Amino acid sequence: MQKRVVVTGASSGIGAATVRRFADLGWHTVAVARRAERLRELAAQTGAHTIACDITDEAQVAALAAEVAATGGATGLVNNAGGAFGADSVEHSSTEDWRRMFEVNVLGLRSVTAALLPVLRDGARETGWASILNLTSTAGHSAYPGGGGYNAAKYAAHAVTEVLRLELAGEPIRVMELAPGLVHTEEFTLNRLRGDTAAAAKPYADVIPLQAEDVAAVLVGAFEQPPHVNQDLIVLRPVAQSSVFHTHRGPLTLNGDA
Ligand SMILES: NC(=O)c1ccc[n+]([C@@H]2O[C@H](COP(=O)([O-])OP(=O)(O)OC[C@H]3O[C@@H](n4cnc5c(N)ncnc54)[C@H](OP(=O)(O)O)[C@@H]3O)[C@@H](O)[C@H]2O)c1
Repeated sequence: MQKRVVVTGASSGIGAATVRRFADLGWHTVAVARRAERLRELAAQTGAHTIACDITDEAQVAALAAEVAATGGATGLVNNAGGAFGADSVEHSSTEDWRRMFEVNVLGLRSVTAALLPVLRDGARETGWASILNLTSTAGHSAYPGGGGYNAAKYAAHAVTEVLRLELAGEPIRVMELAPGLVHTEEFTLNRLRGDTAAAAKPYADVIPLQAEDVAAVLVGAFEQPPHVNQDLIVLRPVAQSSVFHTHRGPLTLNGDA
């Protein structure tokens, strides 16, 4: 079996950049998301096998696992599909937004992981090793006002990652977490702020954020480590952001320089 990795949320942003990066390094890739047309474009560029799947639908996730197994199996899984909906306070946010965030960031991650673990074990039987990486966020490690359901969901995704690593102890399957800070992707903040383009531009104004390609390079780098090396938790921020509460806007200047 060749190195083959399943990437969820591959139709945009970090997921699409991750598929490109893996493909550049000779990995076989399986690109997963709901929007089939966007996946087809990615496949034309990368040779990815594509599977249209809503990871919050158990029947579709079961079909995803069956298709991955039938088309060459897998030795890697990147649980990247996720998102934020709303930036309202706990008091004023809606249960529906919270439900959507939990469904995709937590429950979907669990379903895909559970369904693909037997496939990953088959891959590890042939190659010796398998890898799982969950894309959480610095929002899964630091709460902030308005973070609400997104904080809660990403903290939960962090907890699931820790539980999984403990439960797989003794198996040749590493479990990694990548928690990025500010990443400028096309759709993430637009989705969070319900399509308000002016508001969605503000977090990236006058600052040098991470790009999807930066995150993909570090993520794929973790997969490229020797297989016994487990990078439990990688926190990745732009230099201009020293915490969720400290984002430097304007040029970065050396101390003492004008
Ligand atoms: N951008 C940031 O600042 C940032 C920072 C830290 C962490 N993150 C995390 O990094 C991950 C990727 O973020 P991004 O910025 O690349 O966001 P993005 O561009 O909005 O991408 C989200 C991806 O998830 C997919 N997706 C959403 N719901 C899905 C579902 N139910 N089933 C299958 N796929 C689904 C979307 O594809 P379809 O709509 O086609 O299904 C899309 O490909 C997310 O987990 C996000 O929470 C982002």
